[in-house]
Amino acid sequence: MAKDPVRVLVTGAAGQIGYALVPMIARGIMLGADQPVILHMLDIPPAAEALNGVKMELVDAAFPLLKGVVATTDAVEACTGVNVAVMVGGFPRKEGMERKDVMSKNVSIYKSQASALEKHAAANCKVLVVANPANTNALILKEFAPSIPEKNITCLTRLDHNRALGQISEKLGVQVSDVKNVIIWGNHSSTQYPDVTHATVGGKPVPELIKDDEWLKSGFISTVQQRGAAIIKARKLSSALSAASSACDHIRDWVCGTPEGTWVSMGVYSDGSYNVPAGLIYSFPVTCRNGEWTIVQDLSIDEFSRKKLDLTAEELSEEKALAYSCLS
Ligand code: NAD
Ligand code: LMR
Repeated sequence: MAKDPVRVLVTGAAGQIGYALVPMIARGIMLGADQPVILHMLDIPPAAEALNGVKMELVDAAFPLLKGVVATTDAVEACTGVNVAVMVGGFPRKEGMERKDVMSKNVSIYKSQASALEKHAAANCKVLVVANPANTNALILKEFAPSIPEKNITCLTRLDHNRALGQISEKLGVQVSDVKNVIIWGNHSSTQYPDVTHATVGGKPVPELIKDDEWLKSGFISTVQQRGAAIIKARKLSSALSAASSACDHIRDWVCGTPEGTWVSMGVYSDGSYNVPAGLIYSFPVTCRNGEWTIVQDLSIDEFSRKKLDLTAEELSEEKALAYSCLS
C-alpha cells in the first residue's frame, strides 16, 4: 500500500541551497524512494517571484513522488502540518565576513519562525537548521519553541563530517564509502574539531593507516575547518550542492537509522556528555534508530582532543551569550 505523503518544509527555498535541495527531496533522496512528499517552500517577499519559478520547475520536472507544492511568503502557511522542517533561510556569510557578523540578522528570523513551527507544525516535527550560525540558530529556535521536544531540534554538521570523509579518502586513495566513524565535535565553524581518532578504513584505524601525525593534527583539521571559507573564496558563494546533499543525509539517517557499527555527526542539544556544557547545540557522534538519535558514549578522549572539544564549546557559549544580547 502506498505511504501517506510526508510534508517537508524548506525555508529560504528560493536561495542557492534551496534550489539544489528541493529536487533531491522530490526525488526521494531525503526520505526514501517509496516515500511520497509534499514540499512546503518559504521565502521572503522580495524572493516571491523566484520562489514561484522554483515551483514551476518542480511541476515541470514531473517527480512521481511529489504530491503537492506550497510556495509562500507566509510563515504560518509554510509551517502548517509539516513533519520535517529544513531551515535554510537566512542571511549567508559573504567573503571576508565572520559568522558572528550575521548573528543578529539571523537570531530574529529564528525567533519568529520558532513560534510559527511551534504553533502550526505536525506533532513530533523534526527540525534541521542549516542557516548560519547553525548551532546557535537551532538553540534560539529551541528556546522559542518550548513545546517542540528538544531532541527534535538539530543543526547540520553532516557537511563537515562528509568533508572529513572526503579528505581521508583522498589522502589514502580509498573509496569514500569505506571510510567510517570520523567525528565532528562542536560548532559548525572554524573551531569545530574533526576527529579521526576512532575512524576506520576497512576496519583498520585511520591513524595507523595514515602514519602522518603532523597532517592528521594540523593540515587535515584546518582543511576541514576552513573548507566552507575555501568554497566561498572559489565560488564567491557558499557551498550549496554539498550542503543540500548533506542535509538529505542528516534527515535520512535520523528517520531511517544509521547502519550497524556506524555513527554520524549531528548538532544536537547537549546533555553534558563528554563534559560538554549542557544547554548548547553541539555536534556529537550519534547513532539513530526508530527516528531517535543517541550520543555515542564512552569513546576515549585524549589530551589533544579534550582541548579541542573545550575550545569549540567555549565559542558556542560565547555565541549563545551574543545571540541573547541581540534579542534584548
Ligand atoms: P542564499 O542567500 O542563496 O539563500 C538564502 C535564502 O533565504 C534567500 O532566498 C533569502 O531570500 C531567504 N531568506 C532570508 N530571510 C528569510 C526568512 N526570514 N525566511 C525565509 N527565507 C528567508 O543562501 P544559501 O547559500 O542558500 O545559504 C543559506 C544558509 O545556509 C546561509 O546561512 C549559509 O551560511 C548556510 N550554510 C550552512 C551550511 C552548513 O553546513 N550548516 C553550509 C552551507 C551554507
Ligand atoms: C559552509 O560550511 O560551507 C558554510 O557554512 C559556509 C560558511 O558560512 O562558513
